[in-house]
This record gives sequence, C-alpha cells and structure tokens, in this order.
Amino acid sequence: MLTTDKIIQMKNNSEKISMVTAYDYPSAKLVEESNIDMILVGDSLGMVVLGYKSTVEVTLDDMIHHSKAVTRGAPETFVIVDMPFMSYHISEGDAITNARELFQKTGVQAIKIEGASPLTLNIIRRLTEAGIPVVGHIGLTPQSVNVLGGYKVQGKDAASANRLVEEAEKLEKSGVISIVLECVPGPLAEHITKKLTIPTIGIGAGEYCDGQVLVYHDILQYGIDRTPKFVKSYADMNTVIKDAVSSFHKEVKEKTFPKEEHTFKIDDDVINHLYS
Ligand code: KIV
Ligand code: NA
Repeated sequence: MLTTDKIIQMKNNSEKISMVTAYDYPSAKLVEESNIDMILVGDSLGMVVLGYKSTVEVTLDDMIHHSKAVTRGAPETFVIVDMPFMSYHISEGDAITNARELFQKTGVQAIKIEGASPLTLNIIRRLTEAGIPVVGHIGLTPQSVNVLGGYKVQGKDAASANRLVEEAEKLEKSGVISIVLECVPGPLAEHITKKLTIPTIGIGAGEYCDGQVLVYHDILQYGIDRTPKFVKSYADMNTVIKDAVSSFHKEVKEKTFPKEEHTFKIDDDVINHLYS
C-alpha cells in the first residue's frame, strides 16, 4: 500500500505515478491486479456507470456505495474518492461532516475536492488537520461545467494560466497531497509540476505531469461511444462484449446452448418414476 510520503518520494525520484478510476468490485480487483499505483473512485461514475448527464447529479450516497465496492475489490491499493457536487460548498461544517462520512464509511485513503476557492482551501486545511488526506483538482473541473460553459481546455490565456499556477500553489500550501490537472496545455502543466513539491496527476495535461490518470472505461473502450482527444484506449471491450453476448443470443435461438456438458444429471429411475 502506498502512503502519502511514498507518493511524494515518487515525484522526487522521477518515478511516474499511474492512476485509474474504478467504480465497482470487479474493476477495482482487476486494476489492483494490474499493479496500478492509485485508484480514483471518480464522480465520473455518474456518467460512466449510472447514466447521468453530468457529475452534477452524483450524490454522497452514490459515492459511498461505489467506494465500498472498490475498497473490497482493491484492499491493497491507495484509493481516492471524489467528494460529489455541492457536498463541500454549503458550509465548512457541512463539508467536514460529509468528508468524514465518506472517509469513515468507505475505508479509502484520501478524498478529492475540485477547485481552490477560499472556502475550499479552508476546508482542505481543516480536513488535513483532522487526518483526512486531500487531493486537489484544478483546470477543467467538471462539477463547474455549467459555470465554465462546457468541457474545454483551461489556462490558455495569460490571466487564466496565472490563476491556475496560483491555485496550485495555494492548494499545496493548504496541505493537499497531490493535484489533478485536467485539460491544461502541456507546457503550463509542466510549469506547475516544476513549481510544486507534491505530485501533479494529469488527464489531458501532457507528458510532464508526475502521474497520469484515465477513466477505466475509456482505457478499455467499454460502454462508451466517444472518447476525448487525450484518451488512449488500449482495448475494445465494446466489440468483445457485443460479440460474446450476441453469440449467446444466437445459440439460444438456434438451440445450440445449453448442451449436455452444461446440464446437471439425475438417475434414470428417478426421472422414470416422475413420468410413471
Ligand atoms: O471523476 C473522475 O474520473 C476524475 C478524473 C477524470 C480525474 O475526476
Ligand atoms: Na471527478
């Protein structure tokens, strides 16, 4: 199991960090068996496995339910779970109560919070002080998609690039153990990565981040039709699954499944007795 200390050591040793999302028991189990460094129970689960329109619909109960399955499937892996939409914006007290519930009920190692507003930075300081490690997340922050005006690259002009650098520094000072940079131009992500002592984990943020994260279903092309530019798919599960399920369908219709080897036996006398 990784620790927050070892995560920072990895940055110092220029050892890249791999992170993948998982939302349930089998994905967590397979990700752990693939030797991935860290698992993220992302609120992307709302779209990816629950069919919601955006992460705005995800609830604290959704995150708890899925995180519990993930920690059962990957007991040896460092697991981070997203605080969902509006679970840390109403008040500091409310945020801490929610973070505590999420952390205590799921057995994850850290929580992740989007943004770097003064309220958010305060919450990060208080959670860290209370013993809950926090991961930051800046750049494209999907919970704010309705304010950002869509899923777009962030930090492209001087003002927003400066703001991202400042946010990263403020997050580090507030005690986060790592920062996710989402949809940030490569050279800006590189600059931020060099300025920080904690590792950056990029998604659509180029090769210079200290680590990389992708969504499990994007890596596998599993249940999703379109992937963004920054995704690389390493398999085509859509085809594998459709081929397998339609083969089953066909064999049922053709009466070629099940066969004798799939069927339980019974003594002839017993069955003859039934017919007599
Ligand atoms: O919810 C998620 O999957 C994420 C990653 C894209 C970083 O937050
Ligand atoms: Na997320």
